[in-house]
Amino acid sequence: MKILISGACGFVGSSLGRYLRSALAGCEIIGIDNFVRPGSELNRRALQERGISIRHADLRLASDFEMLPAVDWIIDAAAHPSVLGGVDGQTSTRQLVEHNLIGTLNLLEYAKLHRAGFILLSTSRVYSIPPLAALPVRVMGDAFQLDAVGGLPTGVGEHGVSESFSTQPPISLYGATKLASEALALEYGAAFDFPVWINRCGVLAGAGQFGHAEQGIFSYWLHAWKSGRSLAYLGFGGHGHQVRDALHPHDLARLVAQQMAFRGQRERIVNVAGGTANSISLRQLSAWCAARWGDRPVESWPELRLFDVPWLVLDTARAEALWSWRSEIGLDAILHEIALHAEANPGWLDRTSA
Ligand SMILES: NC(=O)c1ccc[n+]([C@@H]2O[C@H](COP(=O)([O-])OP(=O)(O)OC[C@H]3O[C@@H](n4cnc5c(N)ncnc54)[C@H](O)[C@@H]3O)[C@@H](O)[C@H]2O)c1
Repeated sequence: MKILISGACGFVGSSLGRYLRSALAGCEIIGIDNFVRPGSELNRRALQERGISIRHADLRLASDFEMLPAVDWIIDAAAHPSVLGGVDGQTSTRQLVEHNLIGTLNLLEYAKLHRAGFILLSTSRVYSIPPLAALPVRVMGDAFQLDAVGGLPTGVGEHGVSESFSTQPPISLYGATKLASEALALEYGAAFDFPVWINRCGVLAGAGQFGHAEQGIFSYWLHAWKSGRSLAYLGFGGHGHQVRDALHPHDLARLVAQQMAFRGQRERIVNVAGGTANSISLRQLSAWCAARWGDRPVESWPELRLFDVPWLVLDTARAEALWSWRSEIGLDAILHEIALHAEANPGWLDRTSA
């Protein structure tokens, strides 16, 4: 089987490449990347040493696909993956759309040409922000918890936000490029008869993630704690009660491997995330860091930022029902892996942020 991974030198793309190369005997992997992301270059050699062919290609340029060979599967792991993308004054809105949506369009044309299966790494950020921001929560210990007493909106239960939650805008420009990519991928798959799987990923976390809070809060927080960078609890009164769940990319890779082996019809969109068992608040994350490396001050900035939500944990019941999939790598193991990486790589955030 031949697999093409876009964004192959990014955090998730490189993890998927390494996992699939060793898990799928005889598979050939071609990775493409334009190395726009500081840090991507650091993965190139290690992937090549594992027998993964890495080529420079920019998804925005249709002509960059002309020399690529036919493949059986495409995994789209290239994007500018920040909820603040295009609105933070650091990135152009047009470029965000070009990388995230036009890039997917060019990949779909390539899939159509070769009748290759297509797996899109989408995001929890396709879910509507106003109802997420208004979720009823109360503080329990050092974390927000859902408060179901007065009822919860459609698509939210004690296990989190399900695929039936609203995707009504506003969902952020990043979320909009992903939602539009989902629709395009499903249309191409239906019209040109190739399989499409859409994985709406929660926060992915593990060793080697690059240095931005918006693109991997768990890794960022641990590296920043260890290296003495200033840290702040943003929004929600500045207490750090906001909660997210963490998923290790190898757990995602297990699902992707299953999806590539399946040719039947099945619901095409699933949430893929760590779930409530792997959820933690920022304040609890600080306690984890303090236990490992000693305490340190964290600033408090009470004002809410654009797109802030207090509690975002994905319900993965559908993935469990359809694929018998659930995350297996626990939160503590994920944090331990990141901590080891932070200890072995001082200055990581400086090397992998713009
Ligand atoms: N990191 C997370 O927590 C998370 C959560 C949900 C979904 N996702 C999705 O997973 C995918 C991978 O995210 P990540 O965290 O690995 O990001 P990343 O920034 O680490 O990697 C993205 C890679 O894509 C490359 N890239 C960007 N634009 C490109 C282009 N036009 N042409 C070719 N290469 C390009 C970058 O150079 C980089 O190597 C993204 O699609 C993202 O939306 C990530």
